[in-house]
Amino acid sequence: MSSLLVLNGPNLNLLGARQPEVYGSVTLADIEDMCVAHAKTLQIELSFHQSNHEGELVDLLHGAKGIHDAVILNAGAYTHTSVALMDAISSVELPVIELHLSNIHAREAFRHKSYIAPVALGQICGFGARGYTLAMDAAVSHLDHGA
Ligand code: DQA
Repeated sequence: MSSLLVLNGPNLNLLGARQPEVYGSVTLADIEDMCVAHAKTLQIELSFHQSNHEGELVDLLHGAKGIHDAVILNAGAYTHTSVALMDAISSVELPVIELHLSNIHAREAFRHKSYIAPVALGQICGFGARGYTLAMDAAVSHLDHGA
């Protein structure tokens, strides 16, 4: 059975209360519930984490090797700054799908740069919380068909 790791970076613990006009009104717990339910329908295993700490996200990526088959990563603001996360992704050699609730390309210029994108399998952004289940579908499709 395939296993996915969903990793959430800084400030995503505040979803629901944080800039709802940008990120919507669902909480991270709602998103986790959605992902758990979707994992059941896809018949896969799922692990869901959030951390506000860059090094902890690096550790979680390292720990995914050999345990999970793919990673869905919403690195939050670290997307735009973190060479350490980029290097961690290259090091673990797992397929990583970059995810954002908002369309980062339609926002401030500093959000257009992603250190994750060059080492990711692909990027999903702009679909709000639904992006998480879309990313899960993309990960399973990749694992099943290599697409
Ligand atoms: C985000 C987009 C980032 O630019 C921002 O720093 C976040 C959330 C998103 O999901 O839209 O924290 O990753």
